Amino acid sequence: MNAALESAPAQRQAHYDKALAVLRSRMRWAVAGGGEKLHARHRARGKIAVRERIELLLDPGSPFLELSPLACWGLHGGAVPAAGIVTGIGRVSGVNCMVIANDATVKGGSFFPETTRKHVRAQEIAWENRLPCLYLVDCGGAFLPQQDRVFPDWGHFGTTFYHQCRMSADGLPQLSAVFGGCTAGGAYIPALSDESVMVEGTGRIHLGGPPIVKAAIAEVVDGETLGGARMHAQVSGVTDYLALDERQALHKLREIVAGLNWKAVGAAQRIATRAPLLDAAEIPSIIGTDLRQPYDVREVIKRLVDSSEMQEFKPEYGSTLVCATAHLHGYPVGILANNGVLFSESSLKGAHFIELCNQRRIPLLFLQNITGFMVGTEAERGGIAKNSAKLVYAMATARVPRLTVLIGGSYGAGNYGMCGRGFGPRFVFAWPGSRIATMSPDVASTVLTELRRSSLKGPVDEAEIAALEQQTRQQFEEQSDPYYATARLWDDGIIEPAQTRDVLGICLQLADESTPRFEGQSPVYRM
Ligand code: COA
Repeated sequence: MNAALESAPAQRQAHYDKALAVLRSRMRWAVAGGGEKLHARHRARGKIAVRERIELLLDPGSPFLELSPLACWGLHGGAVPAAGIVTGIGRVSGVNCMVIANDATVKGGSFFPETTRKHVRAQEIAWENRLPCLYLVDCGGAFLPQQDRVFPDWGHFGTTFYHQCRMSADGLPQLSAVFGGCTAGGAYIPALSDESVMVEGTGRIHLGGPPIVKAAIAEVVDGETLGGARMHAQVSGVTDYLALDERQALHKLREIVAGLNWKAVGAAQRIATRAPLLDAAEIPSIIGTDLRQPYDVREVIKRLVDSSEMQEFKPEYGSTLVCATAHLHGYPVGILANNGVLFSESSLKGAHFIELCNQRRIPLLFLQNITGFMVGTEAERGGIAKNSAKLVYAMATARVPRLTVLIGGSYGAGNYGMCGRGFGPRFVFAWPGSRIATMSPDVASTVLTELRRSSLKGPVDEAEIAALEQQTRQQFEEQSDPYYATARLWDDGIIEPAQTRDVLGICLQLADESTPRFEGQSPVYRM
């Protein structure tokens, strides 16, 4: 991209608008599920589409924070929209819950590797944020052609059941409503739930379906007799409630949640929400899509936080990392945002700031736009290795909830220092113009071609070097694309800049209601 082209706000806005149009069209792919024909078949069976089920389940008018809707984008020939499962956080009978709902129009709701990852990730989020889990089950178990990638290992199907047992033991209710045929693995979702509801006529639970029963013990039986809802409600006791249709099942689930005796207690000194004075719709015109163009990240922060007000920490020092406290939807938050490459000073300031927030129990928000830590003789003599490590150490050991948004580049050790996925932030979201990789395509192609040149003993074949340069650039362009990342569940979803304040507001509420009341002091070591 021509650098000069993106210098004016209008041009930045125009480029970002294109990126937003791409995001919105891909979201339509996710929401369409298995397509019109399979939706018609689904409806003809008296079943309700997965997203409508969720709408009926949630408190009217309350928000739903959907997670990783673009999982599987570009994978499996595009045939598994949203990885065949909808996950997200919403309010049911006044209680924030994690909803995990299979989309039976996508390969019978069976589990691809990304489906399993998305299901496990939703449980991890539920556990950390102390949310009851509601499973809307309509699933054919493991997608058998890829059974080696969904069944045997840690993080595969077995882990979803392990999580159910452990979360229940940890006081987090696990509740199911069964809408379709649940065979084998699928059967364990309701079987391991604290309470379950089944829909008569379509809901089925059996460890082995009729074909398996015939093959194993030569018994010929129909599905309804073997695992129908009435049989399970009246004879086996596998389910606790019989629902005559899907609406009744969803209503029953709401009733169960209403009876959980659930009390969320917030720890923060929350104040009244005040809208930002500056408009978030202007963010694209500030940041553009060319990551090489600098901008002042304060202009982004001011469009996210209450009243556009923030109190900056050490504003005169380590200016490439902006550290500031603010309120967002009334919740206090400590923000670390990149404003250039990280130097020793900015790293030390960041570590100091994290300690302050930790001591004051203020959640942390990392806004990543970072190429990495400073390199070179001067930086090394200044101790960048140990000073950057202090930032990493303070961030990794912080006891307050941490949230991360990739607003621009997320490269190399900068990703680590700024609380990338590997450091377990509660949520990671990305903006459509972000990039994530060890390094940029420019730097990677230079590194690899230089390495090749120096390892060649004889004369250098310039054609080979050019091919390597081109191949590396292409690989890094493709793999640092945010859709490549979100398809593989490296984040919890791509969100628009203008949606970010509300998304973070929900995350801060969840963080507040689940923050452990940790004992003891958190010391502040001056850096
Ligand atoms: N593995 C691979 N493919 C599966 C699958 C699975 N576990 N479950 C469903 N599918 C596929 C079907 O082959 C079909 O693919 P196609 O459209 O390419 O032909 C598609 O998903 C839709 O399945 P279909 O049977 O038409 O849907 P349905 O709504 O009538 O029935 C189920 C859904 C889940 C009840 C039924 O597909 C089923 O019983 N699946 C097998 C369940 C099983 O034995 N699982 C064991 C897992 S350990």
